[in-house]
This record gives sequence, C-alpha cells and structure tokens, in this order.
Amino acid sequence: MLLEVMTEVMICPQTSSIRLFISSGRGIICDYLMTDFSISTYPDVKEIYHRLDALMQLPIHGIKQDAMTKYMEHFDTHCAKSKEMVTKACEFIPGGVQHNLAFNHPFPIVIEKADGAYLWDIDGNRYIDFLQAGGPTMLGSNYKPVRDEIIKLINEQAPVTGLFSEYELLLAKEINKHIPSVEMFRMLGSGTEAVMAAARVARLASKRKKVIKLGGGYHGWSDQMVYGLHIPGTGGFEAHGIPKSYRKHTQEIYPNKIGALKKNLFRNKLKGGTAAVIVEPMGPESGTRPVDREYNKEIRELCDQHDVFLIFDEVVTFGRIGLSGAQGYFGIKPDLTVFGKVVAGGYPGAGGLGGRRDIMEHLAAGIESGKKRAYVGGTLAASPISSAAGYYTIREMEKTNACQKAGRAGDRLTTGLKELIQERHQPYVAYNQGAICHLETVGAMFVKLNYLKIRSVLREIKERKFAMEEMGAAYMAEGIITLGGSRMYTSMADTDEVVDDALTRFARVFDNTERH
Ligand SMILES: Cc1ncc(COP(=O)(O)O)c(C=O)c1O
Repeated sequence: MLLEVMTEVMICPQTSSIRLFISSGRGIICDYLMTDFSISTYPDVKEIYHRLDALMQLPIHGIKQDAMTKYMEHFDTHCAKSKEMVTKACEFIPGGVQHNLAFNHPFPIVIEKADGAYLWDIDGNRYIDFLQAGGPTMLGSNYKPVRDEIIKLINEQAPVTGLFSEYELLLAKEINKHIPSVEMFRMLGSGTEAVMAAARVARLASKRKKVIKLGGGYHGWSDQMVYGLHIPGTGGFEAHGIPKSYRKHTQEIYPNKIGALKKNLFRNKLKGGTAAVIVEPMGPESGTRPVDREYNKEIRELCDQHDVFLIFDEVVTFGRIGLSGAQGYFGIKPDLTVFGKVVAGGYPGAGGLGGRRDIMEHLAAGIESGKKRAYVGGTLAASPISSAAGYYTIREMEKTNACQKAGRAGDRLTTGLKELIQERHQPYVAYNQGAICHLETVGAMFVKLNYLKIRSVLREIKERKFAMEEMGAAYMAEGIITLGGSRMYTSMADTDEVVDDALTRFARVFDNTERH
C-alpha cells in the first residue's frame, strides 16, 4: 500500500534552528527539531512554578535521620584523608577551602583527578561529576584535544607575556562568528570583572547611572552587584562590608513581571535615567527561577523604547545553551554580552565583554588623550593560556556538537529524575534548560519574603538551606557531585550509561527521605 507523505522543513532565521516535520494521512511520523542548542524543548515555566509553589506549601521532605547518620559515617570512614587535610587547611584558609562551591556538607572533599564525567578524591572514591567546575567544561573535564594544545603552547611559547598573542585575535573572531552582536570583544579575568566592565562602559556610553537587574540573579561579587541575591527582594541582605552608597545605583526588579520593569524605567527617568538592564537570559541563578519564553523579547522591546542598553550575562549560558548563547536561542540581540566559564574552556582567566562597536570602543586599551575611557585591566587577563583554551574549546565544541550532546544528557537526567519523583509520590521538582538541570527538593531559594515576619522567614531559609546541604551530602555519599545539592551541569562526557548510573544513585537517596 502506498502512503502519501508530506515533508516540511522549517528554518527559523533568528535561532538558525531547523524543524523537520513529516506527516501522512494517518498522523505525524516525525517532528524533529535540529539545533545546535542544548535545549530540545523550552521548559513549561508555568507548570514549574505551580509545582514549586506546591513544594513550598509542604514541610521539608528531607533525608531520614537514620540514613543521615549512615551517610555521615560514610564520610568519616571513606573520606578520612579529605577530612584530615581540610581540618589542617582551616588553620590557614578561611573556612578551609578557597572556593565557595567546594564548601560542602559535612566537610569539603579533596579532589585529586578529574576526567570526562568523573572526579576522584584523595581517598580513592570516584564520583559522577555534575558540578563540572561550575559550568565551563562542556566537553567534559580535562578534555584531551584542548589539553594537548595548551601543553604545546606552554612548551613552545609561554603561559603569559603581557604582550599580544595571536590567540586573542583568534578567540575574538571565533566569538564574533558565533555571536554577531559581539562586534568587538575584550577578554578579562573573570565573569565578575566582565560584569563590572559592562556596567561601567554602559554608564559611560549612556551618560546615565542606574543599572537594573533581575531579583535573585547572580552577576558576580562586585560591590555593586551583591544585591538581591538568591531570593528577589532581598536587596542588600548579603552585602556585608559594602557601604550602601556603592549600590546606590543598582536596582532589582521581580523577574517575569514585565510591568515591574516598565514602572522602574519610568521612575528612573525622573532620576537621571537607566544606563542598562542586565539579565541572566534563562532566569536568575542560572535559570533556577526560569523566565517565560517571551520575557527577554519583552525586555528588549522596553529597552529600545526607553533607549536603555540591554546586557545579557551569558557567563553560564554561552556555550552551555549553544555557541551562539542564549541570545542565539531566543533570537535576541543585546547591546552587550558578558562572558565567563566556557570562554576559557575550564582554564583560568575566564571572563570577557563583547558587544556593539560604538560602546566597546570606550574600552580601548592604551591611553588616548581627550577620549573618555572606561578603564579595565588585569595582569593575567587574556593570557595566551586563557585565549588559546577558549579558542580550542569553542572549535572542539563546534566539531563535536557538544551542546546538543550535553543537552540530551540533561534531558535524559531530568526525565529520569521526574520518573523517580513520580513513582515515589515525592514533592520534588526537576526541570532543565538543556545542559542546566535543576532538582528542587527543599526550595531554599523560593522562600517568600515577608518583612513583617522576617525572623520566621530567616529561620525557614536557614532550615531549608540545611536540608538542601544534607541532600547534597547524601548525593555525594552515593557518588554524585552536584552544585550545592540542587543543580547539575551536564557535559558531552555524560553518556547514557553515566546518566543511568546517576539515576540509580539518585533513586537510593530518594528512598532514604521522609517528611520532616
Ligand atoms: C550569571 C553569572 N554571572 C557572573 C558570574 C561571575 O563569574 P566569575 O565566577 O567568573 O567571577 C557567575 C558565576 O557563577 C554567573 O553565574
């Protein structure tokens, strides 16, 4: 029997994605979205918030007391060398570790080796690595083809000279190839520095002062940006040691409510105007608080109406959502883009700012008299190692289609987690934006602020944070490293086998939970 088949190929010029649609009289045979992005389907944001609201109505559903005791015994017996080293380190290093992400409950573990999807600690334990150094290693940890190039560079050239290296140009061109909005690129030492540079140059070019961010978002730890972290509306809660005047021109708005931004822009007009709106395009805290599909577009339109610069902080999303960033995915052209993490492929010196030529020219190196300059610097910024690592990483990612592979791993992990949650009738919420996966078991960042009951709000935050740390410890004892017990970054190294093994381990943790 002959079947009449209809084939349609749709190309979205904004996101350069291709949709292959095949149908017959009997229905759809194939509906396949071919993209270079890690996201296969944009998450159902309304459904996620619905489930998160439900999670927050319930008491904490955490690790059972007896199971927690066993997990703690595990750390004492199986991670003794780590414990000893970190105890010693506490004498010389505040908190015993140099990096916030390393500060895990019950104590930080000491890592000896990272390779692909795995980490090994000094006690010889192997872990599935969903931290991936906080996001930069999309090819998997310590990817050989990039490592070989860096070793060659150190052997034949030098790790740093303070003068120009060809890799600076190669990297800037490579970024421009993938992100046309980045007409010019200046590499810096970190994402924090790049955000500082973005705010400074936006203020200089616009001759205005206010910078608006989304509440709950993280844009590094500069004085002006430690504001409204984790939970929208918290303003200067975590800004100890920062004079209020330093963040006088930083404002936060509630995410996903375009009316709030509109009002703020109008209000600012009476106070000297807004220099820029800065957003994490997937939503605050790397999409922990996801934004509606159209939200970035609406922000872009408002910025255009008010003649305000739009800054996309793509520290996490560049290379993790796609090589054209979240802006490629959403089809939006920001005025400035902040880079970090993948821009140096997991090597030191991961930061950069790019964007419109007329704005970026204010960042020109060297001193040109009579011209106003937004001063930036850094002895080791754009070292040959950082630039070459960024360049080779991007090339390898393109060659291997790393974003798509890491995204499929993120989908498999999230789908599997959802199934585990459903089977056990647990209140947990799993969702992902491609290679960024979230597993909210206690919702520490979703506590609702109520200034009239601030003591009980702070107590709830503390309790939920501790329960989340215990979940993180349980995952770790079962051989999985997460980011703070609620986020997982997948990489190209996460094969189906790795993900399925992780799911078996997550299941063991879920079986050890109860309502507190
Ligand atoms: C969205 C975002 N912006 C900025 C930063 C700061 O980057 P860095 O840690 O390189 O200073 C981070 C760090 O995680 C981030 O997630």
